[in-house]
Amino acid sequence: DKNGFEHFMLKEIFEQPQTIEDTFKGRLKPEYSDIVLGGLHHVFPRIAKAGRIVIIGCGTSWHAALIAEYLLEDFAQIPVEVEYASEFRYRKPLLNKNDVVILISQSGETADTLAALRLAREKGALVLGICNVVGSTLSRETEAGVYTHAGVEIGVASTKAFTAQVTVLTLFTLKLAKTRGTISDEEYSLLVKELAEIPKKGRAILENNEKIRQVAEKYKDAVNALYLGRGTLFPVAMEGALKLKEISYIHAEGYAAGEMKHGPIALVDDNLPVVVVAPQDAWYEKIISNIQEVKARKGNVIAIVTEGDTGLKELTDDVIEIPRSHPALAPLLAVIPLQLLAYHIAVLRGCNVDQPRNLAKSVTVE
Ligand code: F6R
Repeated sequence: DKNGFEHFMLKEIFEQPQTIEDTFKGRLKPEYSDIVLGGLHHVFPRIAKAGRIVIIGCGTSWHAALIAEYLLEDFAQIPVEVEYASEFRYRKPLLNKNDVVILISQSGETADTLAALRLAREKGALVLGICNVVGSTLSRETEAGVYTHAGVEIGVASTKAFTAQVTVLTLFTLKLAKTRGTISDEEYSLLVKELAEIPKKGRAILENNEKIRQVAEKYKDAVNALYLGRGTLFPVAMEGALKLKEISYIHAEGYAAGEMKHGPIALVDDNLPVVVVAPQDAWYEKIISNIQEVKARKGNVIAIVTEGDTGLKELTDDVIEIPRSHPALAPLLAVIPLQLLAYHIAVLRGCNVDQPRNLAKSVTVE
């Protein structure tokens, strides 16, 4: 049931504020400044003492893992590595009993992710899962884990499962940082409070849907697109590019903005839309100079900006506003306009957004 929406993907994009709230349920307690992750309770002392965390997934789930790498190293001060399941399983990874391996999978049935799980378990690591499907193979074979509570996701392009994964990973990071004593009480309480505000801010972004559709009209005939971001918004840029290529078949690449000079800048001309995730955070000045470099070569810049940022309006071709948030929580907001942009471009091109060609919802063969 599409609940009045034209496609499942659009319905699922619009469900995200609720998905985040559902993922908070029983876990985020802003009134007590507390986070409870029942599924990890018995193994948490071992996680807190781990020498390293390795996070593994494919596709969109791998992007969520990359965001967690920034968050965990920043707040919990624990070394993190992120790997594609398909690479990890065929390397000879060095793992030991002090390592924690987290497998992320919406379906819990992705063949490469399950193979990585079994390899990590054989090597004696503590193996945890972040998964959306209750009772899936991944949830059965991991030692402990957290469910994402996104509900059934029907659109082949993952949207609400991603925000739910990032929500769980953010809760996990804060809980771990608190347990390890690597975050101050003030910052922890602030983040818990700010996290509780994210669903409301997500709803505000969804109100820009028509505006985003109008931006999509301008770029629907693009052949290529580049997505740029820095910090946690670099994986968000990759996720935006993945959404566009999956459902619209436009070739798109997500890049760390600072890497632009090292290659992709050669692509910039007056036919190239460049989507820049550019909120007013610690990287703002750097991202402005990236935007200037694109403009100097006549690229079209679509910027995702902090509400009320008039400066970037003048510098760019189109802006899409997102509410101000704690920078650590920005991925949960910034991804929404990128999903909507991909969706509208694909619909305008007449593509089957819910079932794009050549793709399966769950990749159970390698
Ligand atoms: C992208 C997408 C895929 C999946 C990937 C992993 O929109 O849906 O890239 O993210 O196939 O699937 P799960 O998370 O089920 O292991």
